Amino acid sequence: MRVVALVLVAACSFAISACGSDRSTAIADLTGDTTSGETLYGANCASCHGADRAGTSAGPDIRGEIEGGETIDVILNGEDTMPAFADTLSDQEIADILAFLQN
Ligand code: HEC
Repeated sequence: MRVVALVLVAACSFAISACGSDRSTAIADLTGDTTSGETLYGANCASCHGADRAGTSAGPDIRGEIEGGETIDVILNGEDTMPAFADTLSDQEIADILAFLQN
């Protein structure tokens, strides 16, 4: 049993993207709350992407750039100077932000 658990942990650390995609599939299956998503966006994302999502000097315009799975992966893992939110946001919180962005 213990060996099996260790192998699973090892597989996850060597294939972070595979584990991330399991989580992004779970997030994509959730129903997001746009009101909560707006609050979370304001607290976590607006400083770089702007309250109106049109971007700032610290982050690009993300209007019309929202693709379910791909966007979830960017939020989970970060990209370039964008930080990863995998440890900061829960699955439901990411689903809420996604619902707000797609609205
Ligand atoms: C510290 C600044 C910063 C914060 C905070 C931030 N981002 Fe980003 N974000 C960026 C940058 C810079 C990029 C462009 C990365 C690249 O070009 O590879 C980006 C890229 C993106 C993209 C992909 C755009 C594209 O066309 O590829 C999305 C979607 C996105 N961010 C959403 C979010 C969301 C949602 C949050 C909050 C949970 C957030 N970002 C928080 C800086 C930030």
